[in-house]
Amino acid sequence: MAILVTGGAGYIGSHTVIELQNAGYEVVVVDNLVNSSKKSLQRVEQITGKPVPFYQVDILDADALNAIFEKEEIDSCIHFAGLKAVGESVQKPWEYYYNNISGTLVLLDVMRKHHVKNIIFSSSATVYGSPAFVPITEECPKGEITNPYGQTKGMLEQMLIDIQKADPEWNVILLRYFNPIGAHKSGMIGENPNGTPNNLMPYITQVAVGKLKQLGIFGNDYDTHDGTGVRDYIHVVDLAVGHVKALKKIKEKAGLCLYNLGTGQGYSVLDIVKNFEEASGVSIPYEMKPRRAGDIATCYADPSKAFKELGWKAERGIREMCEDSWRWQSKNPNGYEE
Ligand code: NAD
Ligand code: UD1
Repeated sequence: MAILVTGGAGYIGSHTVIELQNAGYEVVVVDNLVNSSKKSLQRVEQITGKPVPFYQVDILDADALNAIFEKEEIDSCIHFAGLKAVGESVQKPWEYYYNNISGTLVLLDVMRKHHVKNIIFSSSATVYGSPAFVPITEECPKGEITNPYGQTKGMLEQMLIDIQKADPEWNVILLRYFNPIGAHKSGMIGENPNGTPNNLMPYITQVAVGKLKQLGIFGNDYDTHDGTGVRDYIHVVDLAVGHVKALKKIKEKAGLCLYNLGTGQGYSVLDIVKNFEEASGVSIPYEMKPRRAGDIATCYADPSKAFKELGWKAERGIREMCEDSWRWQSKNPNGYEE
C-alpha cells in the first residue's frame, strides 16, 4: 500500500517524501509543478536511493486523479498541494479559493469513491490570527484571518472536520505548521521561492549569496525583547518527521485530530539574523522598515499535545536550521535552475 503525497515536489513535500521512504513507506507523488521542479524529486531519489513514482497532475483534474487511484494501491493521503503566497492571495483571491478549496474537494471526492479515507492536511498557525494567548495550544480559538490564503486553511479545516463528523470512517489529522525553515543535510533540496522571497529565511539566504542587497526588517517597535517580530521557526526535517508520526496515528483509526507542529521556542528577526551570521560566517546588512500589514508581534506554539499523542518533538535547534538553510542556498544559488 502507498501514501499519496499531493504537492510532493514542493518544499515540505519533498522533505517528507524522504522521511516516508526512510521509514519504509511506499509513496506516490502528485504535483502539477506550478510552484516546484521535477528536479527536487530526482534529488530525493539520489538521497534515498529509491524511485519516487511521480504524476504531473493537477488535483483539480478528477479524471487524472481517478486513474492514479485505479492504478496505485493508495491507503492514505498527505495533502500538501496548494498555493501559499499570502501577498499574491490578496491580489488573486479567485485563483487561491479555486485551487485550494476546489482542488481539495475534488481530491476528497476521488478518495471517497476509492474508499480511501485517511488524510493528513497541511494547515497553518495563521488560523490563530493574532493569537489570544502564547504559547499557542490547540485550544486557542481561531482568530481573525486577514488574507485569502489563510482563509483557505481555515475553511479547509472546517470542511474536513464536517466530513469526518458525518462519516466517522474518515480519519483526519490537521497539522498546523509554525514557520518551517532549514533544508535537508545534503544541501540537495530546500526552499525555492519564485521571484523575490516574502518569507524571512529565504530573503536572508538570498542576501547572503548576493542576489539581494539587504534585508528590510518589518518593524522594531513590537512588544518583544528587541522590538522585532517573534516566530516559532521549525526545521523542515522535524516537520517532515511529524508527518511520519501522524501517519502512524492515522493507521490506529485516529478519527479527528489536530496538532501544532512547532518547537515551542520563539526567536525575533534580529535573533535569526545573528544566528544566521554565526552559522554562515556571512554578514547580513539590514535596515529597519515600517511594520508589514497583517503581521503580529509574537507567535509560538505549545507543541506538547503532539509529543503526548504522537511521540513527536522538534529536535533541531536554530543554529542547525540556519546552517542547513545556508548549505542549500550556497550550493544552489539559483535553486533548481542550472
Ligand atoms: P510549496 O509551494 O513548495 O509546495 C506546494 C506544492 O503543491 C507545489 O509543489 C505546487 O506545485 C503544488 N501544487 C499547488 N497547486 C496544485 C494543484 N492544483 N495540483 C497539484 N499540485 C499543486 O509549499 P510548501 O511550503 O511545501 O507548503 C506545503 C503545504 O504546507 C501548503 O499547503 C502550504 O500552504 C502549507 N504550509 C506551508 C507553510 C510554509 O511556511 N512553507 C506554513 C504553513 C502551511
Ligand atoms: C508567513 C505568512 C503566514 C504563513 C507563515 C508560515 C505572511 C503575512 N504570513 O508568516 O501566513 O503561515 O509565513 O511560513 O506572510 N520579516 C522581515 N523581513 C522580511 C520578511 C519577514 O522583517 O523580508 C519578518 C516578519 O515581519 C516576521 C518574521 O520576519 O516578523 C517572519 O516573517 P515570515 O517569514 O514572512 O513569516 P510569518 O509572517 O510568520
